[in-house]
Amino acid sequence: MAEGGPMRVAVMASGGGSNFQALLDRFASDADRARIVGLVASRETAGAIERAKRAGVPFTVPRASTSDDDAESLVAAFESWETDLIVLAGYLRLLPPGVVRRFFGRVINIHPALLPAFGGKGMYGKHVHEAVIESGARVTGVTVHFVDEAYDRGPIIAQWPVPVREDDDATRLAARVLEVEHALLPAVVDALARGAVWLDDVRRVRWTEAWFAADRFQIGETGRFGFLDADG
Ligand code: GRF
Repeated sequence: MAEGGPMRVAVMASGGGSNFQALLDRFASDADRARIVGLVASRETAGAIERAKRAGVPFTVPRASTSDDDAESLVAAFESWETDLIVLAGYLRLLPPGVVRRFFGRVINIHPALLPAFGGKGMYGKHVHEAVIESGARVTGVTVHFVDEAYDRGPIIAQWPVPVREDDDATRLAARVLEVEHALLPAVVDALARGAVWLDDVRRVRWTEAWFAADRFQIGETGRFGFLDADG
């Protein structure tokens, strides 16, 4: 991380990129805290690319393979952007192990369920919410975790609950979960940028203060989700 400068954040996405947008919006007004320096899209059609173009953020679409030479091209892109943190936000491919090793402790992922439940291979997008509803679970939520060599298994950084409603279908539930994602992910990136949370050398998540005290999150009477800022 550039000494004293903002944390330089690269995002990886495959879809519409609303989490990428949430990070762009959060740090547009707080550029000395973190800066979104690049986007890796897994396909040319990712809506996230349009968002990168609008924000003037460089982007790349790597060849569709997870071989080691793909790791080399990804690492080269991250290094060209002087990346401090990699955020997977709906990146639907396994990150080549070479990238995980090179950036260990500096790669995070957001998952639209309370891991370890409803995670792992095939658990992405609507499949997650369909499985939650099918299971009869009364609460689902959002997880942000450090990435290790397997899907959705890395050390958990933060989670937040989202109630499952009687009349929920996957689309309605996905929308409520996504709203929580758009608050939780920037909060975690902010805490990482402040050095308030980190992964120690035995892969335990450590933090300096209760930066993520539940009382800083409010679920209003309308069930809407509000996040007080760190000083709130
Ligand atoms: C989000 O639900 C995220 O949790 C999951 O993929 C989805 C990406 O959505 N990993 P978007 O592209 O950020 O809108």
